[in-house]
Amino acid sequence: MRKYVIAGNWKMNKIVAESVTLAQEIVEVAKNISKVEIVISPTYLATAKVADAVKGSNVKVAVQDVHFEDQGAYTGKVSVDMVKELGVEYVIVGHSEQRQYFGETNETVNKKVKKVLEAGLKPIICIGETLDERNAGKLEDVLSAQINGAYANISNTDALKTIIAYEPVWAIGTGVVATESQAQEAHVIVRSFLKKLYGSSVADSITIQYGGSMNASNAGGLLQQNDIDGGLIGGASLQAESFIAIVEAAEKIA
Ligand code: 13P
Repeated sequence: MRKYVIAGNWKMNKIVAESVTLAQEIVEVAKNISKVEIVISPTYLATAKVADAVKGSNVKVAVQDVHFEDQGAYTGKVSVDMVKELGVEYVIVGHSEQRQYFGETNETVNKKVKKVLEAGLKPIICIGETLDERNAGKLEDVLSAQINGAYANISNTDALKTIIAYEPVWAIGTGVVATESQAQEAHVIVRSFLKKLYGSSVADSITIQYGGSMNASNAGGLLQQNDIDGGLIGGASLQAESFIAIVEAAEKIA
């Protein structure tokens, strides 16, 4: 069975003190949650303190990116060992903002996925099409290239440790959420490409999250779709109340 995973991607928001407060608020409510994996992803600077704040709880910590090299002259970058030391369990890889603004490609995503898995951490692999690509009928081509790229030379066993976040770029931060059927349809496509690579039993075990303007009011409907197994949430993850409402919607369905 697939696990529901609700993850908050805080992006470049909140100073360390604010991050710790939000983490503490989430830990409080998370005590009542048993069926959903809860993940929060603060900025690098807040990672250590947030990891301390969630210690002993059922809230897990992610970072928003890592470099694919172990160490060296890569100004501004952070390695898997550095985040692992802090108690991080998940790494967001290939977010569309990384792809759009910082030159992330399917090849660098693959290198990062390998490095994250090698370190014993779990990648949340972000994929998704732009509005132009969708309008040009390229949804399947884009998703296929992103999935085949990200999973190149990744074994069945390792694939089972990954999560995919399907995030249509046009829905991110825009308030324009994919409809339930648009999202479900894309998730079926994603799972069909995973089936081609790994067969049904692996593909049916991989959690596929939806991301893009998910909030407390639309989460329930999206999460009820057969192939939507969680959410990667930006804006609505920045307040405990709206994030927890999404977690609770998932708990009800799980
Ligand atoms: P929003 O929820 O703000 O649209 O962001 C989604 C996202 O990019 C999560 O990674």
